[in-house]
This record gives sequence, C-alpha cells and structure tokens, in this order.
Amino acid sequence: MRYITVALAKGRLAKKAMALFTKAGFPCEEMEDPDTRKLIFENKEAGMRFFLAKAPDVPTYVEYGAADIGIVGEDTIAEEGRKLYEVLDLGFGKCKMCIAGLPKSREVLDNGSLIRVATKYPNIAKDYFYNKRHQTVEIIKLNGSIELAPIVGLSEVICDIVETGTTLRENGLVVFEEVLPLSARMVVNETSMKMEKSRINEIIDKLTANLQN
Ligand code: PRP
Repeated sequence: MRYITVALAKGRLAKKAMALFTKAGFPCEEMEDPDTRKLIFENKEAGMRFFLAKAPDVPTYVEYGAADIGIVGEDTIAEEGRKLYEVLDLGFGKCKMCIAGLPKSREVLDNGSLIRVATKYPNIAKDYFYNKRHQTVEIIKLNGSIELAPIVGLSEVICDIVETGTTLRENGLVVFEEVLPLSARMVVNETSMKMEKSRINEIIDKLTANLQN
C-alpha cells in the first residue's frame, strides 16, 4: 500500500492536529518522542507518514505532491496562493488577520493617505488594500514581531494575526479593521484527491467525526 504523507506546520497547530489524528484512529507514536531528530514519522499499519515543516513550506509540499495532505493555517494558505484543495476547517487555531496601529493612525488610514503597512503577509495585505479597499499603500515585509513597526515609526499600520489581542493591548495598539477569519485547515494535493480518493475521504470523514464543535 502506498503511504499517505501528511505535512504539518510546526508548532502549536501540529500538536493539536496530531491529537486529532490520534483520536480519529491515525496515531503516530514515534512522533511523540521530544528528543528525536528524525524528520519523518510512520504509522505502518495505517499506511501513513507524517512530517513537520515551516508553515509557509506546507502548501509547497502539497502542491508538488511531496505530501498528499497538509495541515496549516488559513493565513499561510491565503498568503502562499498555491494550487491545492482546501477540504476541511479543523476549528482550532482560531484567530483573525487584522489591520492595526496606534490610535492616532486611524485618520491616515481612513483618509486614504499613502501609508506604510508592515506585515509578514505581503500578498494578503496587497489583496486587501488594492482589491478590497482600493487604496495604494507601501507594503513593508517583516519576519516577526510586527507590532514593533508602528511603535518605532517604521509603518503607520500593520497587517497581522490577532489571537487574544494581548500583544496589541500591551503595546498600546488597536484593531482598525478585520481582514480575514483564520483557523487551521486540511489541504490536499489535487492529484492525490483523485488517485487516493477513498483513503483521503476516509481520513476526512474520521477527522470530521472527531472535531470539537
Ligand atoms: C503572532 C502574531 C502576533 C501575536 C498575536 O505572533 O504575529 O504577534 O501572535 O497573539 P495575541 O493576540 O494572542 O497576542 P507569533 O507569536 O506567531 O510570533 P511572531 O511575532 O514571530 O510572528
């Protein structure tokens, strides 16, 4: 039997996703060893293997068919714009993509000035400002701690993930607009969806039956 390969975005999502796979009857014991340096883990009986990757690489593995299935946040799926099927909302990892900034910046955002937008998600930010708000902005790509940008004067606003809102609050920033609701999703390679239809549907059905509402 051919292995069904699952790519998981490293970190919090992977832990929750593996708990769900385990509940659904696809456990992977060797993945639970915290000291392991292995990169790929098998469940022989289920004919499945799992690996962890940086979130933005998950849609890449899936588009090319190096993984049949990917578990990754909607933020990354939207940003990467890969060709794949999004088949299931896993319901965890819920947060929002937002436009935020210091309260004084609301005015320059609203009056359509040529503002700077700092973000880890330049494609999502471009789509939002150019296609939805029809506003020309300068996008500044950063790789983390995006909330710093308005505080030190790198940008007027940010386009970033808000989960609990604590990071914004503790840094005197406020949400101006909500761009996109986010959560963890299951994605599938287009060819795998056809060639391994029954096995992939079985996985989707068993995961669905174990989702928490
Ligand atoms: C994310 C996001 C915010 C924070 C939001 O950052 O970019 O900074 O979490 O969470 P909160 O609303 O619960 O405070 P992450 O921890 O992924 O690290 P990063 O700064 O490297 O992007």
